[in-house]
Amino acid sequence: MIALGCDHGGYELMQEVIAYLDEKGLEYKNFGCGSTDAVDYPIYAKKVAKAILSKECEKGILICGTGIGISITANRFKGIRAALCSDCFSAEATRQHNDANILAMGGRVVGPGLAVKIVDTFLNTEFSNAERHMNRVKAIDEE
Ligand code: RB5
Repeated sequence: MIALGCDHGGYELMQEVIAYLDEKGLEYKNFGCGSTDAVDYPIYAKKVAKAILSKECEKGILICGTGIGISITANRFKGIRAALCSDCFSAEATRQHNDANILAMGGRVVGPGLAVKIVDTFLNTEFSNAERHMNRVKAIDEE
């Protein structure tokens, strides 16, 4: 199950992402928002982060205007690794190296065609089991 969250700046791009997930038959839970009316991105970042930490969802996709505010908020939660990506190389690398559990994108940054490829890359790339990467990811949450 994939948790989805966006603000008004990410709403339109999220509709493209949803169309892609529907086409692929992938299950998701949409935590909103539900239109281009102005809302506060932390609300949706927190809902998606909590859905992942509770194990209701395995991964998440967050979109705001830049992807910055929504990823900063999600990354306040221990155990959340939200990666802001505007290219497929980063989306692949952050799954392989960081075991990122949330993909963040900017609805005012990437176009729909690229965004869908980034989503596809993120969802279809496994975490590398190399010990160095596992140790580094573990170290993220250590004091
Ligand atoms: C909303 O105008 C915008 O600030 C928000 O979508 C996001 O870009 C914040 O980081």
